[in-house]
Amino acid sequence: MHNIAVIGSGTMGNGIAQVFAMAGFKVHLIDISTSSLLQAELIIHKNLDRLIDKDKLLLVQKPDIINNIHFTSDLELGLKDAFLVVEAISENILLKEKLFNQLDKLTPNDCILASNTSSISITSLASFTGKPGKVIGMHFMNPVPVMQLVEIIPGLLTEKEVTDKLIEISILLNKTPFVVSDFPGFISNRILMPMINEAILSLQEKVAGVNEIDQIMKLGMAHPMGPLQLADYIGLDVCLSILNVLKDGFGNPKYAPAVLLINMVKAGKLGVKSGEGFYQYNDLKKISGISALFAN
Ligand code: 3HC
Repeated sequence: MHNIAVIGSGTMGNGIAQVFAMAGFKVHLIDISTSSLLQAELIIHKNLDRLIDKDKLLLVQKPDIINNIHFTSDLELGLKDAFLVVEAISENILLKEKLFNQLDKLTPNDCILASNTSSISITSLASFTGKPGKVIGMHFMNPVPVMQLVEIIPGLLTEKEVTDKLIEISILLNKTPFVVSDFPGFISNRILMPMINEAILSLQEKVAGVNEIDQIMKLGMAHPMGPLQLADYIGLDVCLSILNVLKDGFGNPKYAPAVLLINMVKAGKLGVKSGEGFYQYNDLKKISGISALFAN
């Protein structure tokens, strides 16, 4: 019960692999892109070094953690012996359908198939397999090594033992799990995304500027970052796709994404990862400037 596979080595996938490896699990981190795997390996090294610098990890512990992670682009090899698979590929239902079809064929019947989806229905993902009782949501927050929460989302057909097992595993990862029902956006994004959207609408209506909106929420509500900076951090394309899932899933226009958000995504202003969103970034670091789009 110590071999797991994480599929997708992007920001969420590499963070998930790291926390499992730190808890002593043997992890296969799988990605079709070898350059993404190399990048993930660098990021994990950097994050572990950061913990060592802060005396939260001993230098001697690092090699064992790194040895617990095997980076591979071979799906079949990566899934071998896994009792749990955590899917963390992009939020595209067609890609997920194809992957869950493959996972169904390549994993034994008792293997748990968890998805880190931020809003897609777990019951839908389960319907792409012949073992819906083993499919469940395991939603980590970014940055995964830092954030305490894991949202556990059983689908309509998920077996109770599977939910119980993921609660147990989340605690082993030093995280705090909460179980919520399979509704669009679950709880975290159902509440977070309308707040971010409202901040973007406020900017669009010129109620206040980028700096004012973010500082008001930081200084007034003690949020660690303002909603516009957080949107940049999550990715504006991700925010847009989650809002669309909420709007379509509930059939309620109150979740309709701000036109400004739609236009920024169309213009390729995706936040930190593209170098510009509401702020400007250099090498993934925020530089003081607010995006030229919003400078007075
Ligand atoms: N990996 C590992 N550790 C990191 C890190 C990373 N990527 N980024 C920051 N840290 C650590 C730092 O080392 C530091 O540790 P310390 O407390 O031991 O010194 C701590 O986090 C704080 O970092 P900094 O002092 O550098 O910077 P901040 O104080 O600004 O914190 C932050 C950075 C933790 C990202 C904080 O700004 C924050 O909590 N922001 C909000 C994050 C958030 O809301 N995440 C949820 C997003 S929604 C989501 O993920 C759901 C999805 O479905 C959309």
